[in-house]
Order: sequence, then structure tokens, then C-alpha cells
Amino acid sequence: MLLPLTSNIIIGCLFTTLVAAGKPGKYKRVSDPEGQFYRLGGCPDPHACIIPPDLSTFLPGALLDLRVELHAYDTNTSNPVPEPYKNFKTTIRKDNGKWIDIEKFFELEDSSPPAIEHWNFSWVNTIDVKYADVFDTSDKPVDVAVSSRIWRKLKFDKPGTYDVSVQYGPKNAYTVRYTVVKPKKPKKKAKNAILFIADGCNVGMIAAVRAITKKHTSGKYHEMLSFEDFDQLGHVMTQSVDSLVTDSANSASAYSTGHKSSSAALGVYADSSESPFDDPKVELITELIRRRQPKKAIGVVSTAAGHDATPAAFYVHTRDRDTSAEIIDQIINGVQNWTDPVAPDVWLGGGAQYFQGEESLNGQNYLEELKKNGYQIVMNKKELKKYHGNDKLLGTFRTSHLDTWIDRNMFVNNTIGNGAAPDLSGNDALGSDQPGLTDMTLKALEVLKKRGGDNGFFLMAEAASVDKQLHGLDFPRAFADLIEMEITIKKTVEWLKKNDEYEDTLILFTADHAHGFDVYGSVDQSYITKHASSDDRKRSAVGLYQDSGWPSYDDKDGDGFPDDWTPNIVLAAGTNNGPDHFEAWKLAHNGPRKAAVANDHDIYIGNVEDPAGHYGDGIKWNGNLPVTESVDSHTMTDVFIYANGPGSDFFRKTIDNWQVFFGITEALDLQRSRE
Ligand SMILES: *[C@@H]1O[C@H](CO)[C@@H](O)[C@H](O)[C@H]1NC(C)=O
Ligand SMILES: *[C@@H]1O[C@H](CO)[C@@H](O)[C@H](O)[C@H]1NC(C)=O
Ligand SMILES: *[C@@H]1O[C@H](CO)[C@@H](O)[C@H](O)[C@H]1NC(C)=O
Ligand SMILES: *[C@@H]1O[C@H](CO)[C@@H](O)[C@H](O)[C@H]1NC(C)=O
Ligand SMILES: [Zn+2]
Repeated sequence: MLLPLTSNIIIGCLFTTLVAAGKPGKYKRVSDPEGQFYRLGGCPDPHACIIPPDLSTFLPGALLDLRVELHAYDTNTSNPVPEPYKNFKTTIRKDNGKWIDIEKFFELEDSSPPAIEHWNFSWVNTIDVKYADVFDTSDKPVDVAVSSRIWRKLKFDKPGTYDVSVQYGPKNAYTVRYTVVKPKKPKKKAKNAILFIADGCNVGMIAAVRAITKKHTSGKYHEMLSFEDFDQLGHVMTQSVDSLVTDSANSASAYSTGHKSSSAALGVYADSSESPFDDPKVELITELIRRRQPKKAIGVVSTAAGHDATPAAFYVHTRDRDTSAEIIDQIINGVQNWTDPVAPDVWLGGGAQYFQGEESLNGQNYLEELKKNGYQIVMNKKELKKYHGNDKLLGTFRTSHLDTWIDRNMFVNNTIGNGAAPDLSGNDALGSDQPGLTDMTLKALEVLKKRGGDNGFFLMAEAASVDKQLHGLDFPRAFADLIEMEITIKKTVEWLKKNDEYEDTLILFTADHAHGFDVYGSVDQSYITKHASSDDRKRSAVGLYQDSGWPSYDDKDGDGFPDDWTPNIVLAAGTNNGPDHFEAWKLAHNGPRKAAVANDHDIYIGNVEDPAGHYGDGIKWNGNLPVTESVDSHTMTDVFIYANGPGSDFFRKTIDNWQVFFGITEALDLQRSRE
């Protein structure tokens, strides 16, 4: 069904007196509307929204908020905004049974419906409206007048099919259907689960890193990457509630909650209100662990700022991934009126500026509070390695994101002058003082084993810069951070075996979404440099098919990384989208690459490098994104999921990202309630 984009006047108050007598709608699936500009995700009805949206799936006993919104608007922006809906009725039924008021069904203390909230929001409904500022036009968004009710902290106790219906006029009703699954008892329970996420990694990156790091003879590799002999391999689809292509917030949120969401949302479905903290929440796997297996230890590790989308998805609820200060607050305080804060046993990453000082929430000193709550705080690699205690461990090693493997290990001088010291003294957080993913993960395992004991642990560990460096088209930096992930997985398996945990641990390695990255040949660096002045000739440096000979990386010291990152033959690689840029496949020595050039358009926002920089000798690639974009965008291809250990069977086929939650909760025996 198409949303009405032409004049569509709805006078909500006309229905006021009629509504109570009406009948709830039959369940009828309404397809998503076609087009780029949804009024609100998961809202195919022209005026009503029920959130969680149609087809949501729950575990019995998992917590959720339920919001209903009614939208009154006129797409002709010359007309006044219509009156908001004055009344509506929300009912629910189980397995096609009798329709019952929400309050009665969930046996709420307050038996009357919650007060109706009102707000307005702007619906950016066309391309012209979206770019009105950029191209200086007068196109205006559609003002939508909202009436809404929210019921918080509900749970479905029994498996079955549930229909929720909102009646908002004598003939207007909208109904959604939820499934509450039958809890599964695992064939063999996993005591521990480790979820490795290489942010933004696709299969093309795996193949590239294999070619860079593994010896080969006659085109056959001597060995494979560490995770390639895992028990199972599947595909994960990554599209979100309202878009083909996801960002890292709602994709990680799908893993942590079992629910897809919208761009930038973490642990919530997006509503239309302004506050990013009132959106309807769904329960996180970590919260479920705290309620159902409270002695299990929880760890969150990332090479990004710890408030960044992927790690945050495992301990927060917010509509807006950029509410960094509040995200850090939620480590300790959680969300009011919801459930106990996750308070991870181990939390390691960057983002130090939100733990104290002027950027922290209300200038609070969270480090002091964390210490009071029994945390040990570490702020550099040395302190991290030295820690062998039993206490909860929080490590924050830098303001913002940790530096890439290449800058931490090869070009430490690039980190001189960063002023990024985690104590906010303005000193540097030298690359050599920052731990890497391997250091952090192995320490997390050590602490989690001590704290979880027989109850085991859940750990999420993210290689964040694979994504961040692919955005900037800095392929060597993205490769190196993926190699660091590969080595981390190898050392994790060794650690699990040594510590007698291997047989009891579900290990997953996946990405949250892809970039359109691939290798299509190899490049002769000396040739491209020699013929830099001839646009036609330098393109001959790219060898295709029979001329795509292997790159000349070597690893004589056996640390898993190439010894020399600037061999003469390198991979000819690219992504399927990007800004205008030059490509010479060189290593940027002075820090992560800023690929976009500003010579054709001066509309880019940030992250633009002078074309006379490292890549000026390269081949010109014309951009294929809106001119406001200075970095490459995510893509929709399915991502891999490698799985090993108890419960890994679940992951051997094509699954949707929200199902990953159900696979992990089944393996950990978290689905069966003990309440
Ligand atoms: C929009 O509304 C104005 C004012 O009521 C009217 O003059 C105009 O014709 C309408 N435009 C369309 C496309 O309906
Ligand atoms: C919504 O917008 C209308 C028209 O501008 C205004 O009269 C009304 O007060 C607004 N409602 C809220 C709740 O802000
Ligand atoms: C939490 O619940 C209390 C009691 O119902 C209420 O007064 C308060 O406003 C709620 N706080 C939030 C943030 O929802
Ligand atoms: C790094 O900087 C130091 C001090 O500025 C300098 O002595 C050293 O040569 C530099 N190292 C490299 C590899 O450039
Ligand atoms: Zn990204």
C-alpha cells in the first residue's frame, strides 16, 4: 500500500464520540509502504502505529514497553496542521480469543488507560525537503500531530499468538500480530557465550585478509584463518525495520534484543517523540542474564569508544546512539523504572571523556562512583595486564575511539599530540600505551572466568575499526584490525582449551553489517608511481585475471601480521560506493586516511583530505553518493556467522539478525523462565 503523499486531511476530533462503540480490527497484514521516507518505522497504517511493530517475536517473560501513536497530518504544508486524535482504544487477544483491554490483560495495577500524551514531529517526506538547507530551497516537512499512550514494563507469560489492535475511528482500526515463542531447552547447554563482532566486515574482507596473511602454494593455502574450522557457518540478513541498509546501532541491537529497529536506535523501537529516552524498550540479553542467571558474568569489549553503537547495544536503551554521556550513565544507573542496570563485570574500551569532566553527564565523576560500586579502574595497557584481581574491571584507555592497530603498533608517532589521555590531563594516549583487542579480550576472559565461576559468562568483543577504516577507504588499516580480530579468536580458543572451557563455550564470529568491499586484482605500486602523470597509463598498474598475481606480504616474525605493509604488489580493492576520491592503494603513514577530495563539491561535512595528499597520484574515482557524504556507506549484503560449540547448529543456515538473540539465549538456556 502506498502512503498518501497528496492532500490527506484527517480531523481527529470527529471520531471522539464514536470510538468506544467500535470493534477491534481483524488481523490483516499491511505491507511496508514503498519509498525512502517512512513517516515512522514499522507504521504501515496511514495513521496508527503500534510499537513493537507487526511480526515482533518475544521470549515468554521478556520485558517490553508497548506504545500506540495516532498521527494527524496534512501533506499539503500550506494547510494548517489538523487537530490531534482525541481518543482511541487499544485491546489485545491471545490465540484469536476474546479482545481484552490492555490493562486487564496484563493485570496492571492501574486499570484505566494511561493518559494520552501529545507532541508534534516533522516528517521529512521527500528528497527536496531533506536537502532544503543544502540546496537552499523552501520545501518544508509535514507537521504531524501525535496522540499516544504507552504501557511500560509488560511481559507475555505464555507462548502463543497475540494480536494488538488500536481502534481510532468508527471504521479505522489497525492490528499487529506478535509471536511469543515456546522456550527451547538446549540439547547441550552452553555455560559461556562469546560474540565476536568485526564491525562492517564482509566476506570480501575475510578473503583479502586470508590472501595477505596466509602462505600459499599453487594457489592453495597452507592454513586457513582461525575461525574457518568452526563447526558451523551461516548467513545473517541485516536490513532494519524501515531501511534496506542498517547502521551499527540497530543491527547490534537486533543481536542483543531479538528485535530489529531503526537507524541509531539501541534497545528500543523508535517512536516519533523528541526525547531519545522515552521510546518503547525491549529487554537486552544482558538484562535477561541479570534476571535469570544473575551469577553469570558479563563482559563488553571494544576498540571503539565504549559508548559507541555496538558496545552500547549490550547495556543501554536510547533512540539516539549519539547521546554519549547518558549512555555512559546507563552503565551504572541503567534506565529508571525498567530493570536493574547491566553493570558489566568487565567493560573495556575508549570514550574516557564521558566518565568525568565537562562532557560527562552533569559533570559527574563516574570513575569515583564506579570505584564505590566495586570496580577496579585501569587506564593503560600496563595497568590492564597487571590486573589479576577478582573485582569488576573497567578500562578506559583513551578519549574517543582507540587508535587503529597500525597507528598503535607501526606509527606510534601518529598518536603523539593526540591529547587523548584517559585521565583528561591533556597528555597523550600513546598508541603503545593503548591495549589492543587481543589484550582486552584475554583479560576479559580471565576476569569473567573468576567472576562467573560455574555460572559462566557472556562476552561481546568488537573490532570496531574494520568499519571505521572502511568508511575512510583506508584498506590497510581495516585489514590490520581484522587480522587483530582473527588473532584474538585464535588466542581465545587456545585460552578456552587451556582453561577447560572450550567444550562449554558457544563462540560466534560475525559482523553487524557489510561494506561493499571486494578485491578485483592486484596493483603494481612502482608502476603506478612511475606513470602518475598519465591517467591512462597508471590504470595499467591494475592486473586482472591472469595478471592478478599475489601480493608480496610476508610474516617472517610469525606474529600473524605482515612484516612490511608497503610491498610492491598489493590488492586492487575498492568499495561499491564512496565520495569523489583518488585511489593508489598506498599506506597512509601520517594517520588514518581521509579519502574524499573537495575539488568538485565543497559541500562535504568533515573528513576531507587535500587531493595533493598521499593519493594524488592515484586513479580518480567519481563519487556515487549524495554530495554531502564524505565517506563510504554500509551495504545490504548478508554477513557471515561462524559458530562453534554447544548451540552452534542454530547458526548453520540463513537467518535474520534478530534471530541471533534467540540462538544465543537457547544455547545459554536463558529462554526458560525461573520466575
Ligand atoms: C495546498 O493547499 C493550498 C491552500 O489550501 C491550496 O491553495 C493548494 O491548491 C493545495 N495544493 C495542492 C497540491 O493540493
Ligand atoms: C502542534 O502544532 C500545532 C500547530 O502548530 C500547535 O497548535 C500545537 O500546539 C502543537 N502541539 C504540541 C503538543 O506542541
Ligand atoms: C518512574 O516511576 C515513578 C512512579 O510510577 C514515576 O513517578 C516517575 O516519573 C517514573 N520515572 C520515569 C523516568 O519514568
Ligand atoms: C618518532 O618521534 C620521535 C620523537 O619525536 C623521533 O625521535 C623518532 O625518530 C620518530 N620515529 C619515527 C619512526 O618516525
Ligand atoms: Zn559504519
